[in-house]
Amino acid sequence: MKKKIYIVDDEPKIGELFVTVLNRDGYDAQAFVNPQALLDKIDQKKCPDLILTDLMMPGMNGIELIESLHLREKMLPVIIMTAHSSIQTAVDAMRLGAFHYLQKPVNLEEMRTLISKAFNMYEVRPELEVRKKKQQQKYPIHGLLGESDAIAKVRDTIELLRDVPNTTVLIRGETGTGKNLVAKTIHFNSLYNAGRFVEINCAALPDNLLEAELFGYEKGAFTDARDAKPGLLEVADGGTLFLDEIDSMSLALQAKLLSFLESRIFRRLGGVEEIRVTTRILCATNAGLEEQIAKKEFRRDLFYRINVINLMLPPLRSMGRDLLKIAENLLKRYNEDLGRSLEGFTPEATEKLIEHNWPGNVRELRNVLERAVIFAKNKMISGADLAIMDIIEADLSLISGNHFRFESGGTLEELECAYIRHTLEANNVSYAEVARILGISKKTLWEKRKRYNLDEAKEKLELVE
Ligand SMILES: Nc1ncnc2c1ncn2[C@@H]1O[C@H](COP(=O)(O)OP(=O)(O)OP(=O)(O)O)[C@@H](O)[C@H]1O
Ligand SMILES: [Mg+2]
Repeated sequence: MKKKIYIVDDEPKIGELFVTVLNRDGYDAQAFVNPQALLDKIDQKKCPDLILTDLMMPGMNGIELIESLHLREKMLPVIIMTAHSSIQTAVDAMRLGAFHYLQKPVNLEEMRTLISKAFNMYEVRPELEVRKKKQQQKYPIHGLLGESDAIAKVRDTIELLRDVPNTTVLIRGETGTGKNLVAKTIHFNSLYNAGRFVEINCAALPDNLLEAELFGYEKGAFTDARDAKPGLLEVADGGTLFLDEIDSMSLALQAKLLSFLESRIFRRLGGVEEIRVTTRILCATNAGLEEQIAKKEFRRDLFYRINVINLMLPPLRSMGRDLLKIAENLLKRYNEDLGRSLEGFTPEATEKLIEHNWPGNVRELRNVLERAVIFAKNKMISGADLAIMDIIEADLSLISGNHFRFESGGTLEELECAYIRHTLEANNVSYAEVARILGISKKTLWEKRKRYNLDEAKEKLELVE
């Protein structure tokens, strides 16, 4: 059956033109000169598959029209046509559920591309639905454990975000407080997740590589660009791009990201074509962005843009006895996963859990409990079963998110040397463990250590071995 497209524009000539063009393209198009006429038609159960509407119209503007359409229930793609001066309003309309916008005078080719993209994105494909359901079950909102008000608020906000497309969210919290988990939970519980969840750590790549990853490039854009490559913004179209450690992004790249967020349009490196995506941007940081703003290391305007919704994840040590509820829940999970039936914690173990400082937050708690469930000899987890906590306490670097940061501009060899040194020093465990983390044999590690003169780091290790 032909797809039905309704066009609303108070300029009858524009409506007529689009009807002619779209009907020729094989759609069933119909024009309306005011939004009310379109709403009346829809009330008669004559719902289209897509709406193309002007933004500024007398009586009711495009934004009000979108609100009246209750898009969040209908999942109906709406494309807004707008003059250059009101692009910002059109981008805001995307937050209300509009699919995208076209700048007037409308370029017909752009319109065609956007319409077919909208149909692709909104089409319900059975296999996609099944995959979505599965992922949703993996990241249910109640899977985010914690009874404190702070966590309850985070869960409520994720619930509210369910039917809000395109809103940028800033997720803040110390290491191990669940920033990645929250990002996935937002995506997989959203109605707008036809596209993929893609994540990238901004601290893990030098600036130019990060830029190429995010925006993609055309063939020949730089020396190594032998083929064109789509950016992650495209890969995550219709879904979510999670920018972890956003505080590490350079000022230049921050400006580029801001410009994307303000227009929802970007170009690949070396490309001329404007690419429109409806990728939701989630950002995370465990740094004090306000301090970075004061030091001019982070753009204030970008901060305001990404801080539209702010989720603050509390550290475990601030939870008092509430952390026991998380511990009990995790115990239940590990009992199930590991086929054990531990009944709870002895008073001594309870005391220990509350007293501990938890620098690694839930991640640390998970590790401690998983180990305790495996090794516990009696029905209750005892203080002795939690002995690993004391060792962790003594070596914060092991779990405190001691991330390795690349300095761009060095040679590959310098990078390798720095990373091996970092791992040797940060992971004060065993030689074998360091080799495992680096993905090389103990012999290779030894050879590289010799070559790079890393004996000092080695001695520190031998003490523990
Ligand atoms: N509230 C929570 N409920 C259940 N599990 C949680 C919670 N918070 C964190 N976790 C679990 O703890 C581990 C660490 O969480 P996650 O990776 O999301 O932390 P993070 O804040 O991104 O840390 P980092 O800053 O080091 O990247 C994961 O296994 C996650 O599932
Ligand atoms: Mg993380």
